[in-house]
Amino acid sequence: MRGPNASGLPLNGTIVQRRDLNDGLTALTIALHGWELPPFEAGQYIDIALQTRSTLNQSVQLDSTRFVQNELIRRSYSIASSPKRRDQFELLLNLVPRGEFTPALWRLEEGARLHVNPRVRGRFTLTSALENHAHDIHVVDDPDVYRNTVPVADREAAAADHPEPATSSSHDWPTFHPHLIFIATGTGLAPYMSMLRDNEGSDPPWASATLLHSVRHAEDLAYRDELDALATLDGFRFRYIPTVTRPRPETGWTGHIGRLQPLLEANRYAELTNGRSIRPEDTHIYLCGNPEMIQSLRETFEAQGFVRHTSNTPGNLHFESYW
Ligand SMILES: Cc1cc2nc3c(=O)[nH]c(=O)nc-3n(C[C@H](O)[C@H](O)[C@H](O)COP(=O)(O)OP(=O)(O)OC[C@H]3O[C@@H](n4cnc5c(N)ncnc54)[C@H](O)[C@@H]3O)c2cc1C
Ligand SMILES: NC(=O)c1ccc[n+]([C@@H]2O[C@H](COP(=O)([O-])OP(=O)(O)OC[C@H]3O[C@@H](n4cnc5c(N)ncnc54)[C@H](OP(=O)(O)O)[C@@H]3O)[C@@H](O)[C@H]2O)c1
Repeated sequence: MRGPNASGLPLNGTIVQRRDLNDGLTALTIALHGWELPPFEAGQYIDIALQTRSTLNQSVQLDSTRFVQNELIRRSYSIASSPKRRDQFELLLNLVPRGEFTPALWRLEEGARLHVNPRVRGRFTLTSALENHAHDIHVVDDPDVYRNTVPVADREAAAADHPEPATSSSHDWPTFHPHLIFIATGTGLAPYMSMLRDNEGSDPPWASATLLHSVRHAEDLAYRDELDALATLDGFRFRYIPTVTRPRPETGWTGHIGRLQPLLEANRYAELTNGRSIRPEDTHIYLCGNPEMIQSLRETFEAQGFVRHTSNTPGNLHFESYW
């Protein structure tokens, strides 16, 4: 729900850590009081709510433990932390100066309380890719139902190229593992952080995972050190490709410059990934963040044979649009 909502919601979360990465980007850790989130999946999102300046009633303080009696405004955020931790969670947010919610949130300091909706939602998860491949394995006779069904010979060849562990430590994943391409603009990185963190320390359920992250300025590259470190882990099969579209000379950025699209062209992508090609037969693509980026790349990948994943029609193209 966008905009003022029902009153009387408990201030059931506390900002216990606020890590400002720059003036317009922050990572918040929110702890819960005497309750925890239900089991959820990496990639899902949660709603938080607070009183904004326009609705703030002077008689009710944001840091009170009382129920809020007047209108709140709420917004959805992808959870950036691992689902293994449910007594607290982390969000990655940017300030939208003309927005209604984020300027109010930016005024909050550690210790401030807000409302956390106990429902965690969304289908932007690894299960969407992995169960789909499980279907592929068991239902190979009906290509109309599973349009991205992998021919048995291709599956066997891919499996031989990328021998997979039978299970990961925390999930009962299917044994065939696809190649994953995680594509993000800005804070669209958050759900991938949850997926990566969830699988850190175990055999991940992918043949390979490649993260492409586009930001305006190098200082917007959240979690850069953590991602660089994950990319060096033996057996994690993870590659991190950041790109900066408006580099400031003083930051000394020497990495990729420009939008994501050129990096995803077949030859360029192969150069960046030791010869990998982006094939609908064995690859799932995730797109998160700016809706114009999603629309643009959706068209590109659909033209290459990728199919949008929905609850009724399993596919290999997954979206999470932030506005
Ligand atoms: C499922 C889902 C998950 C989301 N997860 C995140 C998240 O993890 N982190 C996050 O920062 N935002 C996320 N958002 C966006 C978030 O819900 C808010 O829209 C955002 O924080 C701005 O709120 P606002 O009220 O200040 O501005 P709004 O009035 O909501 O938005 C005003 C304008 O700001 C721009 N905008 C909105 N969100 C962003 C953004 N994230 N980055 C850049 N420009 C933006 C758009 O042009 C939008 O029209 C998510 C949205 C959805 C639907
Ligand atoms: N990032 C900041 O410095 C900052 C600071 C404070 C507040 N904000 C607010 O946050 C919002 C923008 O934040 P943001 O920079 O994180 O998000 P964004 O505008 O979505 O930009 C993030 C990345 O996505 C790229 N992108 C945009 N449209 C694309 C498309 N169609 N195809 C491919 N790539 C595309 C951008 O490239 P381009 O650069 O080429 O567009 C940029 O690299 C604005 O409301 C702004 O006022 C931002």
